[in-house]
Amino acid sequence: MRTPIIAGNWKLNKTISEAVALTTALKASVADVADVEIVVAPAFTALAAVNATIAGSNIRLSAQDVYSEDSGAFTGEVSAPMLKDVGCDYVIIGHSERRQYFGETNESVNQKVKAALAHDLKPIICVGEQLEERETGQTETVIDDHVTGGIAGLSDAELLSCVIAYEPVWAIGTGKTATPAQAQEVHSFIRGLLRKTHSAEVAVQLRIQYGGSVKPENASELMAQPDVDGALVGGASLEAESFAQIVKFV
Ligand code: PGA
Repeated sequence: MRTPIIAGNWKLNKTISEAVALTTALKASVADVADVEIVVAPAFTALAAVNATIAGSNIRLSAQDVYSEDSGAFTGEVSAPMLKDVGCDYVIIGHSERRQYFGETNESVNQKVKAALAHDLKPIICVGEQLEERETGQTETVIDDHVTGGIAGLSDAELLSCVIAYEPVWAIGTGKTATPAQAQEVHSFIRGLLRKTHSAEVAVQLRIQYGGSVKPENASELMAQPDVDGALVGGASLEAESFAQIVKFV
């Protein structure tokens, strides 16, 4: 019932020509995949070229961030109408690297989510605990805080346009993946939260991705968990072959 979604977060990587080469190779590798939503998130500079490359294919475009205002004196920012204009369907919001290095808060995440939805962009809202938070038993408190803060004030219909990505910070780029059981436990906890903040229907229908060192070797056992609906992939999305393998494991 929930269509799996595999998204590649390219982070601060790939020039325009490199992005086009990666997309061209990926397009060929996943051409016959029909039952999985495939998304790539290049840097802002490569969005237009990647959008032209994926035309008519089964790959969708995402940005890695968005600003909460539509236009104005906000030097260096990119707005939801601009992302829509360049061909994005999705936008990643609240990635842990943005929270850690760029001062993103639950409040700014919530404002960005609302700005994205107002322009028909689907937010991929990232949540996740740090290692010391897990080790001191605070995982559920942190996830509760990130989820309820990020989605505050959304209607059921708005929330169903979103995807939540559970990304334990200690698993991002470290090679240390959460075990399938650890991922399942948090995903199930998030569905419980959604039942309280919104409705049973939203809790059942909303897609929750896992992210953090997802690779071809561990993708299938993570995807096999009942509440894991896909993956947000960093490192392994930078090569067409490894990303395509993950897509095909679903
Ligand atoms: P990783 O990154 O797959 O390289 O751990 C995941 C992410 O940050 O979205």
